[in-house]
Amino acid sequence: MHKWSVPRSRAYQSHVELRDEILKALEPVLFEPHQFDNAPLRALEGEFAQLVQRRHAFAVHSGTAGLFLALRACGVGPGDEVITVANSDLSTTAAISHCGATPVLCDVLASDHTLDVDAVAAHITPRTVAILPVDLYGYPADVKRLRVLADTHGIKIVEDATLALGASDHGKPAGFFSHVAIYSFGSQKPLGSAGNGGIIATDDDAIAANVQLLRSYGRSRDSLPGQSMFGVHVVEGYNLPMDFLQAAIVRVKLPYLAEWTDRRRAIAHRYATGIQDPRIIHPELRSTAQPTYYSYVVRVPARDAVYSALRDQGIEVGLHYVPPVHYQPVYQHHALAASSLPVTEQLAEGLLGLPIDPSLTTEEVDFVINALLRAVSDST
Ligand SMILES: Cc1ncc(COP(=O)(O)O)c(C=O)c1O
Repeated sequence: MHKWSVPRSRAYQSHVELRDEILKALEPVLFEPHQFDNAPLRALEGEFAQLVQRRHAFAVHSGTAGLFLALRACGVGPGDEVITVANSDLSTTAAISHCGATPVLCDVLASDHTLDVDAVAAHITPRTVAILPVDLYGYPADVKRLRVLADTHGIKIVEDATLALGASDHGKPAGFFSHVAIYSFGSQKPLGSAGNGGIIATDDDAIAANVQLLRSYGRSRDSLPGQSMFGVHVVEGYNLPMDFLQAAIVRVKLPYLAEWTDRRRAIAHRYATGIQDPRIIHPELRSTAQPTYYSYVVRVPARDAVYSALRDQGIEVGLHYVPPVHYQPVYQHHALAASSLPVTEQLAEGLLGLPIDPSLTTEEVDFVINALLRAVSDST
């Protein structure tokens, strides 16, 4: 394994710091009698729903599982179209395809890399049933404005907030303005488990009921008339709840999220002020958005050379998400390959994700700044 001097994430560090609390939280999951019906998830779900100010939260296997279940819960199925972006993890478009629906790609804003809300209307057809914006890098997409358009057309918004836990917009937690939002507890995410995890949050009772059914084998809480047996299967569901051990770990970390998010913002601020070179373009966020900064993503000339130079110095810079999904081999024979997304494509050529983790020291951040400035000068 590469020994990075400045890694993208030091997830294990929080486990070391919270060792006693975590081990204590794992004890009952391991050594007390197991309860049925995902009972060990309920405490996390209740606290999480409060945190993101939604009525319902369901802990699921991963962000990917969450996207799929949320789309299915909104009724997305064969023949439907879902509008989304190409600069995301493949799980975003894959979740749509796995429902039997067709992803339709919309371009993004050069300023903050999120969905260009003004470009969405042109992609709406009678088959559009959902829009899936992504809060890329923890920068909230303008979902408040998107919601007006979606409600006019009776379309659901399924927000990929997998990278945005801790972020807010217009004073509300990321995900708040959508019909349903998905957050990830993948180990390197702003609030990571020690493996996989995710959560779906919504205010919509019908979506919530569907998620609950689909997450757990399609088993309803009702029994058949005249029988006391618990639960009957009313749909073909899946087995996708979050692992109980991971849920216990995430629950221990939840109270630290605000502190860690502040530290991420302070590091981003140091990058923003310390990286002064007209050839390097900084992200520009809307004034109402308070991001969580999964990464600080700049655009640089001669990106590939700069990327290699920094990695050679042990700085784990990232290329999230390059190439954009419509250029991925999986879609080479798919209609998506013909998508015209000039801004997405231009961003992909120059973007470079600088490491952000609450554990990074000021010296480490300054090391990255100086290495970047030098690499850009050397490479251009
Ligand atoms: C934007 C985005 N969406 C979805 C996912 C999938 O989340 P998970 O890894 O929890 O399945 C990721 C994972 O990196 C992501 O970055």
